[in-house]
Amino acid sequence: MTTHPAPADRTPAHSALTGRALTDSAVTDSPPAGSAPAASTAAPYVHGYSERESRRLADQADTLAALLHEGTAYPPGSRVLEAGCGVGAQTAHLVAASPGARVVAVDMDAESLARARTRLGGRGSAGGGGVEWYRADVRRLPFPDDHFDHVFVCFLLEHLAAPAGALAELRRVLRPGGTITVIEGDHGSAFFHPAGAYAEAVIGHQVRLQAAAGGNALMGRQVVPLLAAAGFTRLRAEPRTVCADRSRPALAEGFTRLTFTPMVAAVREEALAAGLSTAADFDRGIAELYRTAEEDGTFQYTFLKATAVKPGAGESGGPQR
Ligand SMILES: C[S@@+](CC[C@H](N)C(=O)[O-])C[C@H]1O[C@@H](n2cnc3c(N)ncnc32)[C@H](O)[C@@H]1O
Repeated sequence: MTTHPAPADRTPAHSALTGRALTDSAVTDSPPAGSAPAASTAAPYVHGYSERESRRLADQADTLAALLHEGTAYPPGSRVLEAGCGVGAQTAHLVAASPGARVVAVDMDAESLARARTRLGGRGSAGGGGVEWYRADVRRLPFPDDHFDHVFVCFLLEHLAAPAGALAELRRVLRPGGTITVIEGDHGSAFFHPAGAYAEAVIGHQVRLQAAAGGNALMGRQVVPLLAAAGFTRLRAEPRTVCADRSRPALAEGFTRLTFTPMVAAVREEALAAGLSTAADFDRGIAELYRTAEEDGTFQYTFLKATAVKPGAGESGGPQR
């Protein structure tokens, strides 16, 4: 149903699966022995890879950095994997909070990685080596077992048809005792004033279209059960709520106007093509969403931020069946 090309269609499947390195690096390009088998096809990425989407990801990351990155800092010298880094919008905040960490960032889209490299320049990593960027599929990563001290994932699981398989692969490359941090949204958590039935409907269209593309825009509520099922322990979940109203005009602008509403508006053509809405109804829904960013409006949305640990030998926490 989606009109965006699937990454697998734009990327030779072999290079996506083997993780062609975009930088010189000590890390092997070869698929590691014993890695989890990749699913047969990649789910289409519902938001696409346009310049506009790139800007939206940057606005989103910058607007939400204090809310989402608070509490995330890695020690100097630690190896940190960012999975699904996109255009590097979160990577910039990761390296700002952990300037001495050795950050390795992977994404399956080459164009996004090129933008990320430009965005970050030489920033990050102890010794001035900068972030290492890899084109790789999180379902089959080109790294040995137990390679990383920490894994960071933001807005990735919601785009995967099989998030459990990706978490198993991330667990494989994490060392025992290492941490994983996962941040995901959940469109069911959106509350706003003035209320609007058309606004509710367009959010519902976004949820349905993302599901049709193999993803899940209601991922937030599933993060903890997925982490537990993948064998992680010491689970900690924190709701991180955006309250955009006149007391926080920067959030009304950065989140309601520049992040959430444009994301929903971007599925307009797909929603019309799928017969989910008329053009007039869709546009009315988007107008109702923008209306909530005015001075007497409010918009609330809750992200789920979870942390967990890969258990060491002898600790319980094997993958649940
Ligand atoms: C919503 S973007 C989030 C990017 C970044 N984490 C952020 O918050 O700005 C999701 C990213 O996941 C990537 N992605 C989707 N499936 C992937 C897979 N199987 N392996 C690697 N990256 C994937 C997409 O290419 C896209 O760049």
